[in-house]
Amino acid sequence: MGNIHSKERILSGMRPTGEMHLGNYVGALESWVALQEQYENFHLIADYHALTTDLDTSKILDNTIEMIIDWLSVGIDPERSPIFRQSQIKEHSELHLIFSMLITTARLERNPTLKEQIKDLKIANMVYGHLGYPVLQAADILLYKGNLVPVGEDQAPHVEITREIARKFNSVYGEVFPIPRTKLTSFSRLPGLDRNKMSKSLGNTILLSDSEMEVKGKVMKAITDPQKIRRGAPGRPDICLIYTYQKKFNNKETKDIYSGCTSGALGCVDCKMKCSEAISKKIEPFREKRKHFEKNRNEVIDILEDGEKRANVVAKKTMAEVHEAMQLG
Ligand code: TRP
Repeated sequence: MGNIHSKERILSGMRPTGEMHLGNYVGALESWVALQEQYENFHLIADYHALTTDLDTSKILDNTIEMIIDWLSVGIDPERSPIFRQSQIKEHSELHLIFSMLITTARLERNPTLKEQIKDLKIANMVYGHLGYPVLQAADILLYKGNLVPVGEDQAPHVEITREIARKFNSVYGEVFPIPRTKLTSFSRLPGLDRNKMSKSLGNTILLSDSEMEVKGKVMKAITDPQKIRRGAPGRPDICLIYTYQKKFNNKETKDIYSGCTSGALGCVDCKMKCSEAISKKIEPFREKRKHFEKNRNEVIDILEDGEKRANVVAKKTMAEVHEAMQLG
């Protein structure tokens, strides 16, 4: 047995949202890169899932390419970890159909993440596929026999549903699937520049591709502690957005910044300068790599095609086992 077989498998996924921002990096990509060392990774692009909230498909391909460019730029290694689209591997749809028989609608309606989405996106008439979102996600994970799923808190209920479906399948038809575990990302929600969750639709992001000037401009405009109206006035770092960023990107100086802010010695403008420099320093190498892939988009397409070939092999094998277990020939 080669070493590869003894490694646990990770299935990570994301909807094709285009260029990645710091929230995506901190909440997902950073840990994906680190996990490559210990696990076998599969990176799924959930392009069908994107349809649950937007039927416009005209930007999906572009968004997919932009997203992959950022994945590669932060250090996802496509040689080790295949990158592939859900829509190109037909077995996702097939397994989704089978799984849809193994879970009740009542169970899916109880999904807290769904309830939150209905509220946040003000969805009045939910489509059938949206209710089944976690069932498709279960197919994504189990088709590759994922043992671990790195996600933010909002996705944990979906992994729970995946576990229930896997158990149900195994108990009815025999052991085919592992019971996957959630791997919560530690910094799962980085606030955006307006303190809401960082998200493109809210226009509060810092993109991984932002230039030094763009980062500076955005950070300078952010609101700090409203009580700290001038240098000398004591601030409250614990409620300050910029301090949250400092903790993440400028760990070395965090202590000094805390005491400088609370004593009043450090003003917000200087603090923001430090913050934007730290962020720029972090993302500069990504920008450099991005330039390469922007010029060589065909390389990105090749990487995707190669990933899809490799994913396909695994998917076919699992489906053969499913058919055999179900005595479907
Ligand atoms: N639902 C995930 C999200 O919105 C994306 C996703 C789809 C996913 N399939 C997956 C994540 C499988 C992990 C595993 O973020």
